[in-house]
Amino acid sequence: MRLAERMSRIGVEGAFKVLARARVLEAQGRDIIHLEIGEPDFDTPRHIVEAGKEALEDGFTRYAPTPGLPELRQAIATHVSRTRGIQVGPERVSVVPGGKPMIFFPMLALVEPGDEVIYPDPGFPIYESMINFLGATPVPIPLVEERGFSFDLNVLRDKLSAKTKLLILNSPHNPTGGVIPAGDIRAIAEMVRDRDLMILSDEIYSEIYFDERPLSIAAVPGMLDKTIILDGFSKAYAMTGWRMGYGVMPEWLVEAVTKLMVNSNSCTATFTQRAGIAALTGPQGGMARMVGEFRRRRDAFCAGLNGLAGFRCGTPGGAFYAFPNITGTGWTSEALADALLEKAGVACLSGTSFGKYGEGYLRFSTANSYENLIAAVGRIKNFLAADERR
Ligand SMILES: Cc1ncc(COP(=O)(O)O)c(C=O)c1O
Repeated sequence: MRLAERMSRIGVEGAFKVLARARVLEAQGRDIIHLEIGEPDFDTPRHIVEAGKEALEDGFTRYAPTPGLPELRQAIATHVSRTRGIQVGPERVSVVPGGKPMIFFPMLALVEPGDEVIYPDPGFPIYESMINFLGATPVPIPLVEERGFSFDLNVLRDKLSAKTKLLILNSPHNPTGGVIPAGDIRAIAEMVRDRDLMILSDEIYSEIYFDERPLSIAAVPGMLDKTIILDGFSKAYAMTGWRMGYGVMPEWLVEAVTKLMVNSNSCTATFTQRAGIAALTGPQGGMARMVGEFRRRRDAFCAGLNGLAGFRCGTPGGAFYAFPNITGTGWTSEALADALLEKAGVACLSGTSFGKYGEGYLRFSTANSYENLIAAVGRIKNFLAADERR
């Protein structure tokens, strides 16, 4: 049986491939430090787990309304209004099974052949995968290391066209940890204000930042009705396996996403939604401790990377990634990522797993213990010292 033609245009995520290879090496007795996967290494806070268990005991085991439980939509509206400095009600909220469906459904609802979609490169690989899957035209914009991995705004201005249907922003950013400065967000809003396009603002790392809270473009006057805020529970509350995310968007788009949900999932699991209410309305101390630990790791790990011959690593403003420039080693990204896995026992990702402009970089996730991160730097140092190419 032949698969539908569109399946030849859909992509996957490099992190899962590298994890599979690392597992094979481990089965052969090798010791691998895992810095490839982008999920917090913390447990879901206890009170959230208890709320999920209680919900099961209390019979929250049936279908929920497709756009989400009313109490959760309200809790999300309150949370997003407070954290973004905007005023939104529950009618603008759509609850879905994870952050990814909030890329999948709005793009399915909006994007078609002939449309152009602008997105960051390097960037989360699902953006490009979905653009190609939908037969639209990918318009990658290279991120600029010297600008903390934000766009060159002149390049963005040049790439905007009458065909631009969607502009994807992601701050804090995967894979670089970059945060788009507030001034850039305002400048981007000015550029697109009078254009007939939507913005997908991927804010899945919204709670994991180390300086000022990143500005959401939805908060710039006049932008709320042009913006889909993507957020969720995976990263902020260490709930990747619970599969719960949400979007805040104009009501006409909530309606479209609801139709797609009716045709695919019916609803997000009901008892996990009850746990989501506990996450947003309960104590936030677990998240604060997690972010504090990510900061401690970032400082030590980036300092370690900067001590390596041929590495140069800026200080990420958010998320839990380091994205060093490795051009000084003489290696290409993919070859170095492979060699570090095979020879040094450190699993990381080539920058090119996130697009062609990721060449010259590696992505390390700091979702591993402080000790393991320091040990990984030691292993890379020994590898580079023994590297005959130098
Ligand atoms: C930038 C970005 N957006 C969205 C997601 C998807 O999150 P979820 O695991 O909740 O589907 C991820 C996960 O790694 C991500 O890095």
